[in-house]
Amino acid sequence: MTDTTLRRQIIDTCCRMNDLGLNQGTAGNISVRVAEGFLITPSSLAYDCMTPDDIVLMEFSGTYHGRRPSSEWRFHRDILAQRPDVDVVLHCHSVHATALACQHRPIPAFHYMVGVAGGTTIRCADYATFGTQALSDAALTALDGRLACLLGQHGQISLGTTLDHALWLAKEVETLAQLYLLALTLGEPPVLDDAEMACVIGQMKRMSYGYGPEPEGSVDIARPAWQ
Ligand code: 13P
Repeated sequence: MTDTTLRRQIIDTCCRMNDLGLNQGTAGNISVRVAEGFLITPSSLAYDCMTPDDIVLMEFSGTYHGRRPSSEWRFHRDILAQRPDVDVVLHCHSVHATALACQHRPIPAFHYMVGVAGGTTIRCADYATFGTQALSDAALTALDGRLACLLGQHGQISLGTTLDHALWLAKEVETLAQLYLLALTLGEPPVLDDAEMACVIGQMKRMSYGYGPEPEGSVDIARPAWQ
């Protein structure tokens, strides 16, 4: 894939993120790992006006080439540096996930699909000012062993191996948040226990249910759930 094609795909994913109702205006940001470091959306620029040249190339040192990068470049850099299992970081302010984050409510295993984020809960990171190292540190803690987290009084982060994977996961997190809020109107719902969630996550991995492609030789399901 050419550099321009990847830059175009980042912009398309940002536009899809807004069209899906996962984000508003210029909020949110996306990064993708490349050989030189990572490509990241610029700060405060409308996605529908963005051109491939507006996407910023950053090195892990923090040096950047082009426009001013997203104010959240620190957590994009730190996640990509510390998580070799993912190549894409997507941050958005989806309404229901953010409503829970405003109450610092993690999403428990009230529904088996919580397992798509890799654990028994989708954690909520402590609040820290946007764009700070403190926010990056809090996000990394909440993402330990997980592919998604809420950000206290801010939004959500979803990780992926591809742009489609991260966008799919962000939509799943948002749907789970909406379901959880609805279930809460009748009282705190029961949760699946850790043994059952281990079973769910094992089953998801075997079936490529939101995870990577099937291991070689497996015939279960040919395509991961986000395709
Ligand atoms: P940027 O426009 O700088 O990426 O900031 C948007 C945002 O969501 C901050 O958290």
